[in-house]
Amino acid sequence: MADSNYTDWDLVYRDYPASVLPWELGGPRKILVDLIESGGVQSGNALDLCCGLGTNTIYMAQKGFNVAATDISKHALKMAKEKSKQARVEIGFVLASFVKLPFRDLMFDFVFDMGCFHHVETEDRTEFIHGVHRVLKPKAQYQLTCFSDKNGPAWNHFTKEQIAHYFAKEFEITRLEHFRSVEADNYTRFFYTALMQSRKKPNRQTTNTNPLQRDP
Ligand SMILES: C[S@@+](CC[C@H](N)C(=O)[O-])C[C@H]1O[C@@H](n2cnc3c(N)ncnc32)[C@H](O)[C@@H]1O
Repeated sequence: MADSNYTDWDLVYRDYPASVLPWELGGPRKILVDLIESGGVQSGNALDLCCGLGTNTIYMAQKGFNVAATDISKHALKMAKEKSKQARVEIGFVLASFVKLPFRDLMFDFVFDMGCFHHVETEDRTEFIHGVHRVLKPKAQYQLTCFSDKNGPAWNHFTKEQIAHYFAKEFEITRLEHFRSVEADNYTRFFYTALMQSRKKPNRQTTNTNPLQRDP
């Protein structure tokens, strides 16, 4: 796990105010608002992966979701908790790396990922995808939004074929759209957003091969 590459994120939130963070738009992402407002996802247990300052997290809580949120930055989580108190919503914030999600299996109806997957190091990708799949109920939804190749070539600027390739085993992609967004630093960035449904989990492995014998 390339954890040392991730822990620098805490310095970003420690050293820079929210007003200069390009991804911090000050309100929830349109893709999330559209999905919820259109009924594309029903309220239930939701996880905001890489929640940052909690802007999208708080919106989900206000919309009736029972929300957990994780980030690797303790400074970000501190500010997100403060904002959630001001907004008077209950959110379970957890300091954790996305490589080892500290949640039990089949816990969530919805995982929201805005700008998280594209920060996953190449060697952690498989683990990350397994983790998201593991914590989702079967047929539950995962909304991924990541940098697209239209931003120019880079290790974490994805084509739609790459997204399909990485996620196909564990998810069925039900919608895939490309969009541009003028971010808070006034630069235009290009994203793919994919709505996916979690495929059924493989049967639980057991060493008990005698069908008449029950698990303890
Ligand atoms: C581009 S920001 C997006 C924040 C938030 N999703 C939003 O849209 O406002 C990426 C976030 O990923 C978090 N992050 C980076 N590496 C992480 C890791 N290994 N585990 C959990 N969070 C991580 C960073 O701290 C940062 O908050």
